[in-house]
Amino acid sequence: MGQSLAQRVAEAADLVTVALDELLPRAEGPEAQLTEAMRYSALGPGKRLRAYFAIETSKMFDVAERSALRAACALECIHAYSLIHDDLPSMDDDDMRRGRPSLHKAYDEATAILAGDALQTAAFEILAHPDTHPDGSVRAELVMRLAQASGAKGMAGGQMIDILGVRDDLGGVARMQRLKTGALIACAFELPLVLARAKDSERHALMAFAHDLGLAYQIVDDLLDAEGDAETLGKAVGKDAGKGKANFVTLLGVAASRERLTLLTDQTKAHLESFGVAADFLRASVDFVLERRN
Ligand code: IPE
Ligand code: IPE
Ligand code: MG
Ligand code: MG
Ligand code: MG
Repeated sequence: MGQSLAQRVAEAADLVTVALDELLPRAEGPEAQLTEAMRYSALGPGKRLRAYFAIETSKMFDVAERSALRAACALECIHAYSLIHDDLPSMDDDDMRRGRPSLHKAYDEATAILAGDALQTAAFEILAHPDTHPDGSVRAELVMRLAQASGAKGMAGGQMIDILGVRDDLGGVARMQRLKTGALIACAFELPLVLARAKDSERHALMAFAHDLGLAYQIVDDLLDAEGDAETLGKAVGKDAGKGKANFVTLLGVAASRERLTLLTDQTKAHLESFGVAADFLRASVDFVLERRN
């Protein structure tokens, strides 16, 4: 105790990076370029907030450390894959990610597509391995939940709507944000609940919290795109307005988006009432997400 939230996030990040280094295939053999590229993205300097959420929630529900860490690694593999594909010329066409060249710039597009594909499958391989949980039905549910969060009704579906464009419709924008970013953030809370075999009432309250936090996370990302600093962020800024993307900030402006974010934050924290002090780290996480500068 007594540790700042930033320290706890940094500790979780280190644990996950070490674990991912062990779990990802070594860069050897004729396919070494692929495994090197996977490592470049997955072991790069991300904030690892999804991993942090999974690890802290696991502590709250007394989940075994190894199970929690493997779930956190799977989430970060999916997240790294989503960023690799998000940066491709046919998607957002971004050259910088996490303060370094995006993967298709460091290598080439074919390598980036394949590294994204292989990180996606690595995530499911990690979850399905008996080291993640002794009970096969628990592992199957982990796989199903992560697949749902990543697929057509989750991240990939949200990315499709983002690319097609939503016009002047805040409800549509909120749905897109919930899918493309909210679903995987929510999954960071859901996997520990599955591992803990938590009660339905606990699941419902925590998932309502998690989905709102996920939406808030993307609104902050959009605010940072409008107001942030490229050096601190490690990626280009002003790209959403430049590309005509529809989000809260491009539709409503910065001030109105901040107001909505404040309302959303109160709503997010209200879901935690039934957990009492056990959820203090979750309350602090909401503030951390809101105040982040990168
Ligand atoms: C960036 O996510 C893209 C979104 C889904 C908002 P993060 O801001 O969590 O990225 P990293 O992992 O810290 O680089
Ligand atoms: C990314 O949203 C969402 C993903 C599912 C990867 P953005 O396109 O806004 O993320 P950044 O700003 O490039 O990190
Ligand atoms: Mg995008
Ligand atoms: Mg992008
Ligand atoms: Mg963005």
